[in-house]
Amino acid sequence: MNILLIGSGGREHALAWKISQSKKVEKLYIVPGNAGTGETGINVNIAPDDFEQIGKFALENKVGMVVVGPEDPLVKGIHDYFLASPALKDIAVIGPRKEGAMLEGSKDFAKQFMFRHGIPTARYKSISAGTVEEGITFLRELHPPYVLKADGLAAGKGVLILNSFAEAERELKAMLQGKFGNAGKTVVIEEYLNGIELSVFVITDGDTYKLLPEAKDYKRVGEGDTGLNTGGMGAVSPVPFAGSSFIKKVEERIIKPTIEGLKKDGIPYCGFIFFGLMNCNGEPYVIEYNVRMGDPESEVVIPRIKSDIVDLLEGVAEKNLGSKKIETTDDTVTTVMLVSGGYPGDYEKGIAIENIKNTSNCIVFHAGTKMSGNTLVTNGGRVLSVSAYGKNHREALEKCYQNAAIISFQKMYFRKDIGFDL
Ligand code: AMP
Ligand code: GLY
Repeated sequence: MNILLIGSGGREHALAWKISQSKKVEKLYIVPGNAGTGETGINVNIAPDDFEQIGKFALENKVGMVVVGPEDPLVKGIHDYFLASPALKDIAVIGPRKEGAMLEGSKDFAKQFMFRHGIPTARYKSISAGTVEEGITFLRELHPPYVLKADGLAAGKGVLILNSFAEAERELKAMLQGKFGNAGKTVVIEEYLNGIELSVFVITDGDTYKLLPEAKDYKRVGEGDTGLNTGGMGAVSPVPFAGSSFIKKVEERIIKPTIEGLKKDGIPYCGFIFFGLMNCNGEPYVIEYNVRMGDPESEVVIPRIKSDIVDLLEGVAEKNLGSKKIETTDDTVTTVMLVSGGYPGDYEKGIAIENIKNTSNCIVFHAGTKMSGNTLVTNGGRVLSVSAYGKNHREALEKCYQNAAIISFQKMYFRKDIGFDL
């Protein structure tokens, strides 16, 4: 089968790396991909939201399956676009339709879904321009810190955690007045959950699911979890504080009710679900849903999957995932993200990257890279994700850091303390 993978980050390189190992794949196309995916398949220069061109390319190149990496094309309805076209409807799309993608595309939708199905999550109220006073009353009921979330997609920037009531009141009004554009026309005010975060992933055909390895992501740019939020600076899998009894609670209280809830609500869903969780004294709560894999979580989760991922994806497409087996390794995988100086603020692109060929005992996943002639150059804030296996996170991280020290590009930065809190 020919597979077309959409996206261009470290997650997509990890997916492409794994998909390309399957005997079931003839050609793997990545739209638009990066320099790393270009080594495991064929990059195709089409924008991820240009559904018409993607559809045309898929037909011309006899693509049998489209795997969608990022949320944006899903929220914009790529799956629905394929289903609505008589020529494209038989091509399997891995990733939910627009309605299922609302679990990530609208925080208000996700909160209503969780409350409707009894899934543990923080108390909340959704506020719009006409109900500011109600919002302020709700803020008064809560204790600091205050959590404000833009309802829509805001490129990971739409969540504010504020220490004072005055700040929370001011930011609530600023958000409703367009601080995050349309994404903040509705604001979800949430109770703050105190605990330690982790991410749990499943793949589902809408009826059954397979649990993938869990991971912990390090979102802040600075050591000791300080500074601005990023897409993620490193990750670890497995997560030492997510033992089997905790994961069992997650399955019983969160994963199963989510799959059942989608069924009850008549929302067909096939693809990945990423549960962003808070472990509060051993009890799991949902912070957010994502309708895709995480990045850089994929760079540690996917290397732990031993099974043929294409076989699992076929199970999703053919709705017989229940008959498939998933095998994972007990080894730890960690990753350290090498980023452009200045990220997550302004940074330069087009800087030559050196010495990747001199690394060993690791997998270097590309995130923001491209080829400029024969030179590999930076092309994003997050540039490379250096992943390694080990018996435990210390051993794996040692390999990540040995190799991170070999790779170089001007103004390269990485956190030296991934896993510091484990
Ligand atoms: P989200 O985009 O919903 O994942 O939120 C971004 C980050 O804000 C999360 O990864 C958490 O670190 C934090 N956060 C979100 N909601 C809460 C909450 N209710 N309590 C504590 N922290 C939260
Ligand atoms: N690393 C967080 C995310 O992918 O949303």
